[in-house]
Amino acid sequence: MDYLSSGFSKVDNSQRPDVFISCLETLCSLPYFQGYKKKSFQSLNVKDSKILEIGCGLGLDAMTVAQMIGEEGYVVAIDSSRKMINNASKNSIEIDSIHYCIADGCQLPFRDGSFDGARADRVLQHIDDPRKAFSEMVRVVRDTGRLVVYEPDWGTFIVSPGQRKVCRIMTQLFGDTFPSGWIGRQLPGFFCEEGLMNIKIEPQTFMTDDLPLAVKVFDLINNAHRAHEMGYVSEEQAKRWLEDLMEAHNQGRFFCSYTGFLVSGEKP
Ligand SMILES: C[S@@+](CC[C@H](N)C(=O)[O-])C[C@H]1O[C@@H](n2cnc3c(N)ncnc32)[C@H](O)[C@@H]1O
Repeated sequence: MDYLSSGFSKVDNSQRPDVFISCLETLCSLPYFQGYKKKSFQSLNVKDSKILEIGCGLGLDAMTVAQMIGEEGYVVAIDSSRKMINNASKNSIEIDSIHYCIADGCQLPFRDGSFDGARADRVLQHIDDPRKAFSEMVRVVRDTGRLVVYEPDWGTFIVSPGQRKVCRIMTQLFGDTFPSGWIGRQLPGFFCEEGLMNIKIEPQTFMTDDLPLAVKVFDLINNAHRAHEMGYVSEEQAKRWLEDLMEAHNQGRFFCSYTGFLVSGEKP
């Protein structure tokens, strides 16, 4: 079974890469994601710059950045997944100023100080050693260059209604099955430890009352089945939880949210 929380770290091994691709397409279409992404682009100061995008996925953000930079600039977009890079390359075939590359965020194939800025969006959560990936981003950015990262903190994940004990298990299991599900709260510390200056931390809360959307992007049904398979809840409890959510949705009282953190800073 491909779970969204653990599967993004190895999309190429998945039998259903379309599930991950479709999830990214849905997220990109939502106003919340468009809103913080726009802030992150502004914070990068991309004019005539060389920008590195880590974990570019379908390449949609790399395309936006490429359209914002002047003729002197370019974007290098990396992803560890060949399937993602193939999709991204197809999506932006007519844009000359993007260069795609398959690479691991923890071992960037670039010299120190090669870029004016670097950006990562919901990538470090999928990496076992996010500190290493972040310090690689810092290494390849030049002095006075900018770093901008957005990551969720799954310790803030709320799904309502539902019996408190069962809800707690479901949301905790979802967060704990990301390689780095608490990265949101760790990110400001990473910026400090790397000696970055002018650090700005912006919490961004996502909310929805749309159960089908939450099922798709937060894997609620697969996660409930997994909670049962792992012995955390009975089959009856998992079934009842999902039924309660459906009933709440039909009555317009389903609620789901999490907080992500947009953190930016400058290399001294
Ligand atoms: C949730 S997606 C986000 C994609 C894109 N940044 C966006 O905002 O739509 C995470 C991406 O990170 C990539 N990824 C996971 N682990 C990685 C690693 N170690 N190095 C580089 N990319 C990685 C995945 O293949 C996937 O494309």
